[in-house]
Amino acid sequence: MTYTDLNTPIRTIMTPGPVEVDPRVLRAMTTPIVGQFDPAFTHIMNEVMEMLRVLFKTENKWAFPVDGTSRSGIEAMLASVIRPGDRVLVPVYGRFGHLLMEICERYGAEVDAMYAEWGTVFDPAEVIQKITETKPDIVAMVHAETSTGCMQPLKEIGQACREMDVLFIVDAVASIGGTDVRVDEWCIDGLIAGTQKCLSVPSGMAPLTYNDRIERRIASRKKVERGIATEEELKQQNTTFIRSNYFDLGMLQDYWGPRRLNHHTEATSMLYALREGLRILLEEGLEERFARHVFHEKALMAGIEAMGLELFGRRDVKLPTVTCIKVPEGVEADSVRNMLLTEFGIEIASSFGPLHGKIWRIGTMGYSCRRENVLAVLGALEAALIRHGVQVHRGEAVQAALDCYMKPAVKDPVEA
Ligand SMILES: Cc1ncc(COP(=O)(O)O)c(C=O)c1O
Repeated sequence: MTYTDLNTPIRTIMTPGPVEVDPRVLRAMTTPIVGQFDPAFTHIMNEVMEMLRVLFKTENKWAFPVDGTSRSGIEAMLASVIRPGDRVLVPVYGRFGHLLMEICERYGAEVDAMYAEWGTVFDPAEVIQKITETKPDIVAMVHAETSTGCMQPLKEIGQACREMDVLFIVDAVASIGGTDVRVDEWCIDGLIAGTQKCLSVPSGMAPLTYNDRIERRIASRKKVERGIATEEELKQQNTTFIRSNYFDLGMLQDYWGPRRLNHHTEATSMLYALREGLRILLEEGLEERFARHVFHEKALMAGIEAMGLELFGRRDVKLPTVTCIKVPEGVEADSVRNMLLTEFGIEIASSFGPLHGKIWRIGTMGYSCRRENVLAVLGALEAALIRHGVQVHRGEAVQAALDCYMKPAVKDPVEA
């Protein structure tokens, strides 16, 4: 049996992840391997930690990636923090809230969920009321719900958690690097990000950060073999050691910190990729990058609406990096997506659960968030809809987006 050379098609990826990777990142991944304790490599590790602190807007000591997809970071955070029987409140407003619930349950938490309709978010006062009434140990929630294109305001919830001495853990996988995330100002104790979305790095690492409140919790759960405490002693203190080796943040921090204790073998090429992705982001500037995402989001939305389609979800809490579109009555959603992929080489996404077949999701994230991509997806979507018998306002979508791009006073923040 012979296998051909890898020969993947060139795609325009307009999904909420994974998205197109900056060619600079791909080039960085071909850098030769060095050993994981080589000073040349530990220097790179330190640089990545430094750049992550800037991205997260935090003074936290700990900011490093976990090797694995974004959920590996979520699982590491929750496995390390949740003691069996801890009460965790999870406000759920889309699919990834359910993921948080599931992981919390697997680590022995007593989960209390509250739900908001998909396409909306919570009024912070409602969540604060619930925290006041139920006094959980931890609140875990999603900042940007990729499944519905909505973004939850966090600051007031974070402040309330801090006042009531509740740990606040946030999944910012879909927002990090695309829209503002302020770990310290919003009183977030532990935050998890992803690489494959607005950072435009391949999937395979989950950068995270946590403060000394969480570090203390982790320290109190050090495993027996490390000579800190016996299991019996931990039990007397109402805790247990962390049940995972791979996801034990105490062990990971001993590797990322000055002790450099051996744990896993670091994913060298992925770290090169993350370093380059972060370097690109800091060269662009955080605020400039956020402005770029809003700039292209506006052009995309103008095009969608000019075509005669309706956007899904509350506009005042819309996530700038994901635009959800209602599928017109009677149209087979996946057939339109397939046509975009096979005829135009453009990928857009469906959604999950109750929204599958009801909405399309277009991502404008990181390196994929570019003028030519927005114009291409609008033109292709219009053509595919016409082929599916939908009455659209022909020719208007691309023109509306061009109007946004060609307004004399408005410049692409990157090109300006
Ligand atoms: C908000 C959010 N959280 C978590 C995840 C899980 O990430 P992964 O599939 O990389 O494990 C995703 C993936 O799309 C996501 O959008």
